[in-house]
Amino acid sequence: MSQQREQWGSRIGFILAAAGSAVGLGNIWKFPYVTGNNGGGAFLLIYLVFAVFIGVTIMLAEFTLGRKTSLAAVGAFKSVGKNFTFIGVIGVLTALMIMGFYPVVGGWATAYIFKSFTGLTSNPEIIGDIFGGFITASVEPLIWTGVFLLANVLIVMKGISGGIEKASKVLMPLLFAILIIISVYGLTLPGAMAGFNFLFVPDFSKVTSNTFLAALGQAFFSLSLGMGCMVTYGSYLKKEENLAQNAMIVTALDTLCALLAGLAMFPALFAFNLEPTAGPGLVFIVVPMIFSNFGAMLGTAFSALFFFALVVAALTSSVSLLEVVAAYFIDQRGMKRPKAVLLVGAIMSVMAVLSSLSLGVMAEFKILGAGVFDFLDLLTDKVFMTIGGVLIAVVVGWFVKKEELRAELTNGGTIKFALFEVWYFLIKFIAPIAIAIVAVMGIMDQPLKELMIAGIVFMAILGIFSRKL
Ligand code: PHE
Repeated sequence: MSQQREQWGSRIGFILAAAGSAVGLGNIWKFPYVTGNNGGGAFLLIYLVFAVFIGVTIMLAEFTLGRKTSLAAVGAFKSVGKNFTFIGVIGVLTALMIMGFYPVVGGWATAYIFKSFTGLTSNPEIIGDIFGGFITASVEPLIWTGVFLLANVLIVMKGISGGIEKASKVLMPLLFAILIIISVYGLTLPGAMAGFNFLFVPDFSKVTSNTFLAALGQAFFSLSLGMGCMVTYGSYLKKEENLAQNAMIVTALDTLCALLAGLAMFPALFAFNLEPTAGPGLVFIVVPMIFSNFGAMLGTAFSALFFFALVVAALTSSVSLLEVVAAYFIDQRGMKRPKAVLLVGAIMSVMAVLSSLSLGVMAEFKILGAGVFDFLDLLTDKVFMTIGGVLIAVVVGWFVKKEELRAELTNGGTIKFALFEVWYFLIKFIAPIAIAIVAVMGIMDQPLKELMIAGIVFMAILGIFSRKL
């Protein structure tokens, strides 16, 4: 069965798509509050080291595997060895689980486009209450989550290259621009330096093995790694593209965006006397507060634009997640695209409803100590993606021949990749060992470690059964 494989029309098309997958709620919603919860500067430093050394290494391994096999995640792993199929399957499951909570936050961002017109006030308590009241309600957030999910389904059904690509070409730079405006403004506020220092001056007394795991999980989540997404994207990449360069550009853009989000949030946060540990509401509280100072008209316009751009950034990420799951049903189960997308969309809707309600009426319902939202969030980035990263590193480093990797990374010897030996050493030895140590030590130190260990046991069982797939 030989298939014509679609390819990215242009280099910039690929970078936009991969960066679009990487840059999303992970950078702008999650990164600031996780940084705040983990003490600031030291966390940031550890995060940067992980993004550069482990992130780029794993991303390059994923691109290489995808392009070499020309297959999406499950098929790519299967073609290295039948025993590795489960890594792709775990990746699909991870994507499904992320989509159990991602659209909920995407829904919040969508709602805030409209709330920008009514809800801007500079009183932190009122803003915090509005946010808290909104996300714990039963009906309103579900409507917005539905809107966000519907947009996903429509985009993935029609193919990604249409409107969303055009929208993201305009709105991604706009998002950057607004973040810069917020940062500059925030830094001029009295008391802002404390926030700047919080972000950039490391305080190592706050570092525990939890901090390391949080930073590693955040790097994987933010760069869309450890679950086959970048394998799938790499499979569409042309043979003459420079893989190493692409991996570095995508990582740099993603990291820059996270840094900018941090710079936009913390100085203003400190200037407003809020706590850096504000949690998942951080961006939804700080941004409206900042813009309330811009006056009614201008503030509303900036705020609405900011959340609109954030929704588009979130969409370019969530469609890549939906695509990973749908591609599995299309490629491996022979389903037609519309049917696969609808099926996957339906499963995601049920999960998203449960996780949204877990913040309100269903707060008492816990699975091994965590509500549905937290369950999905915790298990994906800290467990499934990091362990997925170890597995990918092991497969590429130990089960693909070195010369084949060299040939793939130098496009058959036509381009140079001076760091090949360094990368090979990193992917074969350093990355798997470092990730494994951080994951094991971090998990052992978690309050909810039973939940995480159960997740690992589940992965192992899945591994045994998915050999037949
Ligand atoms: N990287 C995305 C973000 O930061 C989330 C994501 C994870 C997307 C895994 C695809 C795969 O928002």
